[in-house]
Amino acid sequence: MTDRYAVFGHPIGHSKSPRIHAAFAEQTGQKLCYDAIEAPVNGFAGAWQAFVDAGGRGGNVTVPFKQEAFALAEVLSPRAQLAGAVNTLLIGEDGRLHGDTTDGVGLVRDLDAHAAPLTGARVLLLGAGGASRGVIEPLLEAGIATLTVANRTVSKAEALAALFVGKGDVTGCGFDRIEGPFDLVVNATSASLAGDLPPLPDHLFAADGLAYDMMYAAEPTVFLRWAAERGARSVDGLGMLIEQAAESFWLWRQVRPDTAPLRELLRREL
Ligand code: ATR
Repeated sequence: MTDRYAVFGHPIGHSKSPRIHAAFAEQTGQKLCYDAIEAPVNGFAGAWQAFVDAGGRGGNVTVPFKQEAFALAEVLSPRAQLAGAVNTLLIGEDGRLHGDTTDGVGLVRDLDAHAAPLTGARVLLLGAGGASRGVIEPLLEAGIATLTVANRTVSKAEALAALFVGKGDVTGCGFDRIEGPFDLVVNATSASLAGDLPPLPDHLFAADGLAYDMMYAAEPTVFLRWAAERGARSVDGLGMLIEQAAESFWLWRQVRPDTAPLRELLRREL
């Protein structure tokens, strides 16, 4: 029987995950199918159970269900515990529901693919929501020197930084207190979605600085355009999406797909 996987979200219509996982399956010869399931806003647990009852083996979870998936999982990976969110679920060999998150490793792998300087880097992370929280520990693990978390609501930046006391040099502040320069600036706010730009100081980037937006679109986001005008190299989040998917695929199938062909294919289709 073909193993079933799916991504759960609301809305889910534009998800690229089915396309990515179908390509990974074809490339690696794995027999599986992967659907997109739109769960009702307060009905993630029920939708997941119905999927498992119908033979579902594992899934991805996206907005707005990452915290519900976290609460539902019976076994959490250390990185999911630190992130406070789950984007990958699987029924383990022990029969229990395992939750993990692959977003952070997806970001770090994509930064590697773009030859971003991580070791010893001064990094600014914009935003203090779930997207930010999920990438902090993997960035620290990658050997960055300092991490500044800047957010519109300052208390959220400070609270997020406080979670990482003892794990690295992490501080939280408001946009008006940002002190650069930075080797890497990651936009993890949802401002790009609305075409907004957080209020940022002009001299943000070090020489060879890199701007990374977790969002992606056919055209560069407002943040990436702003950064490019200030001489920074700019990269959008399409590669992060593909790399987090590859890590989920690995968790389910113990097979690592080659992400390079997908990068080209999805870029052309944007
Ligand atoms: P996610 O899970 O995507 O991180 P979230 O938890 O809702 O979503 O967090 C969204 C983040 O984007 C927050 O840091 C939010 O700032 P606040 O905490 O002050 O709300 C930030 N954000 C959203 N719109 C923004 C805007 N127009 N300008 C600056 N920051 C914005």
